[in-house]
Order: sequence, then structure tokens, then C-alpha cells
Amino acid sequence: MIAAVSNDGFIADHNGDVASWTTDEDKQFLSRKIQQAPLLIMGRKTYDTVKPQPSEGTLRVVLTSEPEQYTDEHVPDQLQFERISPEQLVSKYRHYGNALLLGGACVYEQFLKADLVTEAYLNTMKNVQLKEGVPLLASGQSFESVANIRTITKNPQSTPATLITRYTLGLPNQRNIA
Ligand SMILES: NC(=O)c1ccc[n+]([C@@H]2O[C@H](COP(=O)([O-])OP(=O)(O)OC[C@H]3O[C@@H](n4cnc5c(N)ncnc54)[C@H](OP(=O)(O)O)[C@@H]3O)[C@@H](O)[C@H]2O)c1
Repeated sequence: MIAAVSNDGFIADHNGDVASWTTDEDKQFLSRKIQQAPLLIMGRKTYDTVKPQPSEGTLRVVLTSEPEQYTDEHVPDQLQFERISPEQLVSKYRHYGNALLLGGACVYEQFLKADLVTEAYLNTMKNVQLKEGVPLLASGQSFESVANIRTITKNPQSTPATLITRYTLGLPNQRNIA
């Protein structure tokens, strides 16, 4: 999973906006990670905010309880809308090898609580205090209290304004993709 987080723990401001307060370093890092991933997973609200275009060679799965609302946007093997649990999704797409979980808060929390995340990048905007907005996890619980953290490493591409922290997660002997 990957998330841009304000220094006080929010992933979106009170208008749901992300782009206005994240740094160029964060945007470039996210862009590289997206280019490397064969499978991208996001919640419907994040999809509606970003509206990514379908692209060949990458499958974007958008989680929604109403996939029938998106039949016009559906592109097989590129942009699919699914009503599916995190466990079912990991099982269905295991052949992709790995996936990048793009959020938002509702989706991060479900996959973390199901112990389906093996690697997390939290990019903290050190100079940004949003004071209110969307917390990293929808319940407001802290990442540290929910994730089964194994290791924590500061990424060398960090800058004073953008702390990129890599976590490895998971219970011993797990086989996950997200
Ligand atoms: N800073 C960052 O890195 C970052 C990353 C991503 C998003 N964001 C921000 O986060 C905000 C969105 O986060 P959010 O938590 O409100 O929403 P979200 O996680 O993007 O989407 C939640 C929606 O996803 C659907 N969903 C989730 N799990 C599902 C499941 N298992 N099965 C079927 N549908 C499922 C539901 O859609 P339906 O209502 O259609 O059923 C639910 O309402 C936006 O403001 C976005 O800009 C920030």
C-alpha cells in the first residue's frame, strides 16, 4: 500500500483534496510505484476523485457495492468495478503476483485488518498540518495499532519536506499479494 499523509495524520483535507498539499517528491514516488504495479486497487470514492484512465498492461480494480453503476466505464482487464471482499480479491488476482493498494481510508483499513498487506509506504508531508480531513484509516485508529509491523526503514529518497517510510508487514509465514 502507499499513502501520502499530512504530518498530523490525514490523507485528504476537509474537501477531500490531496494534490494541493502533497510535494513533488511524493507525486513522483507515487507515479513510479504505479508504473511498476500490474494491479492497482482502490475504493470507489478514490476512483471518483482521481478518475484514472484505463491503460493497457495494468488492471485497476475499483471496489464498490454498486458495480452496475459503472458499466459504461468498465474496460475488461484494464478498469473493473467489483463488489468483493479483500480476501476474495487477493485470491482472485493472486496470479498478478503483486498489487498496489491506493486507498482511501476505508480500503487501507480493510486490507490491513485482514493482514493482506506486506509492504507499506507512508509518505509524510512534514510541513503540512491539515487539522481536519480524512484520516489514514477510516476508523481513526493509528496505522501502528492496526498493522502487524515487522520492519521500519527510512527511504533514501526522503527529503526534509517528504519523509518516505517503508514498512514491511504481516504475520509470520503469510502469503499475500497486496
Ligand atoms: N493521500 C493519499 O495517499 C490518498 C490515497 C487515496 C485516497 N485518498 C483520499 O481519500 C478519500 C477517500 O477515502 P474514503 O475512505 O472516504 O473512500 P475509499 O476508500 O476511496 O472508498 C470507499 C468506498 O469503496 C467501496 N468499498 C470499499 N470496500 C469495499 C468492498 N470490500 N466491497 C465493495 N465496495 C467497497 C465503497 O463504495 P460504494 O459506496 O460505491 O459502495 C466505499 O464507499 C478521498 O478524499 C481521496 O482523495 C488519499
